[in-house]
Amino acid sequence: MKNKKDKFIINGGKELHGKIVVQTSKNAVLPIISASLLADEGDVELVNCPQITDVSNMLAIMRKLNVKVSKHGKNYVLNPSQASNSKIDCRLIKSMRSSIFLLGSTLSRFKTTTISLPGGCKIGARPIDIHINSLKSLGVEVKTFGDQLFFDATHAHAGSVELKLPSVGATENLVQFACKLPGKTTIINAAREPEVVDLCHFLNAMGAKIVGAGGKKITIYGQANLKGVKYKPIGDRIVAGTIMIAVAICGGKVSLENVEPSHNKKLIEILCRIGCKIDTKNDILTISKQNSLMPFNRISTGFYPAFPTDLQSQMLALSIFLPAKNRVKEIVFENRFLIASELEKLGAEIKYLSQNEVEISAQNLAAVSLIARDLRGGASLVLASLGIKGQSEVSSVHYIDRGYESLEKMFAKLGADIKRE
Ligand code: EPZ
Repeated sequence: MKNKKDKFIINGGKELHGKIVVQTSKNAVLPIISASLLADEGDVELVNCPQITDVSNMLAIMRKLNVKVSKHGKNYVLNPSQASNSKIDCRLIKSMRSSIFLLGSTLSRFKTTTISLPGGCKIGARPIDIHINSLKSLGVEVKTFGDQLFFDATHAHAGSVELKLPSVGATENLVQFACKLPGKTTIINAAREPEVVDLCHFLNAMGAKIVGAGGKKITIYGQANLKGVKYKPIGDRIVAGTIMIAVAICGGKVSLENVEPSHNKKLIEILCRIGCKIDTKNDILTISKQNSLMPFNRISTGFYPAFPTDLQSQMLALSIFLPAKNRVKEIVFENRFLIASELEKLGAEIKYLSQNEVEISAQNLAAVSLIARDLRGGASLVLASLGIKGQSEVSSVHYIDRGYESLEKMFAKLGADIKRE
């Protein structure tokens, strides 16, 4: 899946027009792939999966666990009947943070599991203390050997767990772990993201009994047997939001299919407030921008349903095309302004008001060569380049391929002049 050509050449300044079917959500599919390990019988068929490297890596890990995985177009069929608790090579684990989501399902299925500390990434230290402490409070024993963690659920029991903050991954691990744990397990201060809800919907379709997903309290009644199902995960709200912000930058009119507008409520509010026109009918959202936009002044990320951290870099890119000064605060991750130095190459003026808040303005913008340093930041540099007349280049686009299915083809289909080289 890794593409040898690792840069985009962009001739910016063109409007975007047309219709896009938004890919299925990366952050829904990854935990759902992990949860397919919980099926006691039958196949799990996941419909219309995004063709991105994080998904292919996750499926490679499942194959290492001896799960049968077959590909049928964009559908994957998984059969865990012969799954075994083999050691997963650390390289693969370290190559992708989302392997931490395997903790709950492997522990439930095999009763013991070993994971290597997933390590941080560029946007933050990404500790897993909430995952560890929550499982411990359910009677799981945890031992550390170097950078390996050994978990033993032999004496695990149902119970109530309160998260110190609503971690998506920790909530998803706990839900997977408790699905077959005899008794009633309650998660207090659970993450409320749509991807958490989708995982719970998938597990309930398999026969689990999970109540309250999407709220701060989730209750899981352990079930003895779960069956494989055919399931279509939700559309990717972050990819949808990225396209919407691209239209706000480039102008034009684009209709997005396979979206749930309520998943992007905060973004839609802001884009309408600054002058975009957004209509929603069924699961089609149409966004257009004709005249120049107003400043958004200040936004802050937060835990869902607050403004999503995964769209924060895209808002930084948008802000260099807006009048006046705009402020962006990031409260979820500690180092998520990586694209600031790249935007300054384009002519942006960026002032750090504190470690987690920046103020951005720009007078003259010029097309230059940029380097992607993380997934969402890389996509945001593409947005900025699409909005600036002249030839730009974004390199290290393998970061973007982790979460966006052929981003360049999607924007080319909408009229952008963008090629992979
Ligand atoms: C998920 O990551 C997403 N990834 C991230 O998307 C997303 O940004 C994040 O949730 C927040 O919405 C996937 O779903 C695969 P968290 P996750 O645990 O679960 C701290 C993308 O671009 N924390 O909710 O790792 C943590 O450091 C990616 O698609 C602890 O302190 O996020 C962070 O500050 C990026 N201890 C905050 O919580 C823990 O044990 C939120 O992290 C766990 C987390």
